[in-house]
Amino acid sequence: MIATHRPAGRSRRAQPRLDQARSVGDPSADVLVSKLTRTESTARIDAALAALSSGDARAVERLPEALRRFLDSEGLPAGADRARLLSAQRFAQRHAVAISIGLFCAALPAAFTGAKGVAVLNNTGRMRHDLDRRVNETGRFVFDVLRPGSFETGRAVLSTQCVRLVHAAVRVRVLRDHSAGKGEPEIPINQEDLLGTLTCFSVVVLDAVRKLGIAVSPSEAEDYLYLWTTVGAMLGIQPKLLPRDVSHAERLRDTIFERQGGSSRAGRELTSILVDGIERHLPARGASVLAPSLIRLFLGDASASLLGLREALRPSDLAWLLPTATNWLERVGRSLFGAALPSVGRAALDGVMALKLGIAEPSFYRPLEAARCPHQGLPPHRR
Ligand code: HEM
Repeated sequence: MIATHRPAGRSRRAQPRLDQARSVGDPSADVLVSKLTRTESTARIDAALAALSSGDARAVERLPEALRRFLDSEGLPAGADRARLLSAQRFAQRHAVAISIGLFCAALPAAFTGAKGVAVLNNTGRMRHDLDRRVNETGRFVFDVLRPGSFETGRAVLSTQCVRLVHAAVRVRVLRDHSAGKGEPEIPINQEDLLGTLTCFSVVVLDAVRKLGIAVSPSEAEDYLYLWTTVGAMLGIQPKLLPRDVSHAERLRDTIFERQGGSSRAGRELTSILVDGIERHLPARGASVLAPSLIRLFLGDASASLLGLREALRPSDLAWLLPTATNWLERVGRSLFGAALPSVGRAALDGVMALKLGIAEPSFYRPLEAARCPHQGLPPHRR
């Protein structure tokens, strides 16, 4: 996946390790989910996880023992630096506008440049038929982990664990379909693809935020990356692969892009659906050039072309305009809501998500549903 700057031949030492990472999924989660799908009612497990995610702590008693043990042992890593996590969340709270723009116009399209990984995304029925909902749910997840204090309340941990189970369920389903006679697939959602996507959510977003005119100090950037590597560990990325610091993460981003970046029909399709979705939610007429222009500014011409984006506003015009607009939006937010911004922001976000998703609950709260065959279509509550 990913973006802009990529000096050729960088990080050659990382190559064998990344080659190997393509053949590894998330063994402990995959074994667990595979067993659960064979021996238990996944609908019952999903119902208990959804209740747990909505705050019913006693629902944990309705989970199979093996899943309970998994959730207990695979939570926040021992020794995680909670002060740094909170500092990253406060940074995200101060710059919520810029980070949201970075998420939708840099991180997601950057992930779509990973030609092989994106085919897996496109493989799920939901991705093709319901990208708008999926993108909003990804936003919901990101806000769950960036909301100040969410590691303390457990919300960030549970949401991340649910996403880890979604990924395991997708792997189980794709591999099961292949073993039914469609040849040897590459491991879907493998360690290299996970790592590449993690750099999209972290350093690709930080780059975009800077391009929007926000001054990000080195310690803010390191803490933000630290939050995402902590999430990465909880998502099942092997600790030895995780970047140590921002410059390591940037090198990994460039190396993985060199290895995996490419044009693909799935990448172009998903980008086009994403751009349409963003434009539909923009208030102003004539804003239709904005999303492709922002993506081009953030990811550069080469990635924009891979994604099939049309030429729009010149990056040099945007580079002048955006810092002013972003600062203005952030100042208006702070002066309107002041210290109440976090809670008002959260309430507003919940409202918008509920309105746009049409359901109170994101579907990753019911992760094992993703193990169902995509041809069976969406369950009624998601249609
Ligand atoms: C740091 C890495 C990643 C994060 C934080 C992440 C996040 C998420 C989230 C929040 C969801 C649930 C919401 C939704 O359905 O969109 C999800 C689902 C999913 N993710 Fe990821 N993801 C990561 C990496 C990947 C990679 C590398 C792939 C594939 C190459 C992938 C494929 C999928 C698929 C297929 C689903 C299920 C979509 C469906 O319900 O049909 N993810 N991921």
